[in-house]
Amino acid sequence: MDSDRDKIIKTYADHVYPGKVEFYQKYDIVLVPEKREGCKISDIYGKTFYNCHCNGGVFNLGHRNKEIISAVTRAMETYDIGNHHLISKPKADLAKMIAATLPEGLNQVVYGVSGGEAIDLSIKLARGITRKKNIISAKGGYHGHTGFALATGDKKFKEKFKPVPKGFKQIRFNRVEEIKKAVCPDTAAVILETIPATMGIVTPDKHYLKAVQEICRENKSLLILDEVQTGFGRTGKLWGFENYDVTPDMVVLGKGMSGGIYPVSATVYNEKYKNFLKENPFLHISTYGGSEIGCIAAMKVMEISQKKQFLDHVLSLEKFFKQRLELLGAAYPDLGLKVRGKGLMMGLEFKDEMTSLFLIKILFDNGIYVVYSGNDPKVIQFLPVLNMSKIEANDILSIIETSFKTMSG
Ligand SMILES: Cc1ncc(COP(=O)(O)O)c(C=O)c1O
Repeated sequence: MDSDRDKIIKTYADHVYPGKVEFYQKYDIVLVPEKREGCKISDIYGKTFYNCHCNGGVFNLGHRNKEIISAVTRAMETYDIGNHHLISKPKADLAKMIAATLPEGLNQVVYGVSGGEAIDLSIKLARGITRKKNIISAKGGYHGHTGFALATGDKKFKEKFKPVPKGFKQIRFNRVEEIKKAVCPDTAAVILETIPATMGIVTPDKHYLKAVQEICRENKSLLILDEVQTGFGRTGKLWGFENYDVTPDMVVLGKGMSGGIYPVSATVYNEKYKNFLKENPFLHISTYGGSEIGCIAAMKVMEISQKKQFLDHVLSLEKFFKQRLELLGAAYPDLGLKVRGKGLMMGLEFKDEMTSLFLIKILFDNGIYVVYSGNDPKVIQFLPVLNMSKIEANDILSIIETSFKTMSG
């Protein structure tokens, strides 16, 4: 007799994603989340995991954050999705709140539902505003799987969907000379993740993003920074780019903006370019984009994430994790661990792919859920919940230590 869990897995395989089920079964890492609270998720049969991936930052403030749930529950009494054709208080209030935290001029907000949708819009806007066609992105970067977002990405993701839109070129991240050569007066925009996650949590060199900004200005091209993973406090600053002395022309927000409760994303651009949409107000439409409930969830996320005390907590957890992980790396040198990243957006690089993949399985068995970087599997993405306690952080580190021991033994 099949258990409830087996039935769910079978129905999912029959009707949703058979390939995913096969993949997880092959590596014996099947997880069917049921209960979720704070930094933990429990499988339907009761095993509990620390979520140290957080869906790329969706659960920055923990699963089912009580403050967000109560804001959304209250909103449900009077609001619904709203109507994207009409003027809306939650949309207006959230946009004002976001603009107040960004550099001067970055105050025009267009809402979406997902990160990919907001990236697509940023590219539409760049082309529409500059009347130029070429877009430059980073090899190994990732901006989503929708139309233009897919076109910015690596060949392996788009090959099967040819023909993809034209005018897209990739360069290597962190190479100023390379981007200097690639950007020309025909370039509409350069789009980069502030810290490319799928590439392996690669932090930009100190002056890289500033240099890219200058190259863009010289060529009258726009700089779009994808803050879908780095935004909302993940790096210890509200916006990841604040770490790098750079002022983008557009930023793209998603994931954590939802509080993990109600999907919402945004493309924010400089008011210098506002005539384009002013003259074409119905050129971009998204029925559910910036739904009123989503905006109310995001306002609560903004309220929590911009507090100094919250950001200081992220920085203090960063220090705690980094110090202890480096000590563990030194205690288990055969794993070849190198720790990198900013705030709680960390990449744990191991000596090779086999080591990181085995470790993911051992961590899974011991109660930590993490994933590897899609474009560099020897790097485990370590993105724990930002508001966890030191006790929880300590518990996570103990599990990592036990797992390193098993791996080395
Ligand atoms: C940096 C970055 N940008 C954009 C996206 C696309 O977001 P979504 O999956 O919500 O479309 C992702 C998703 O993982 C991402 O990591």
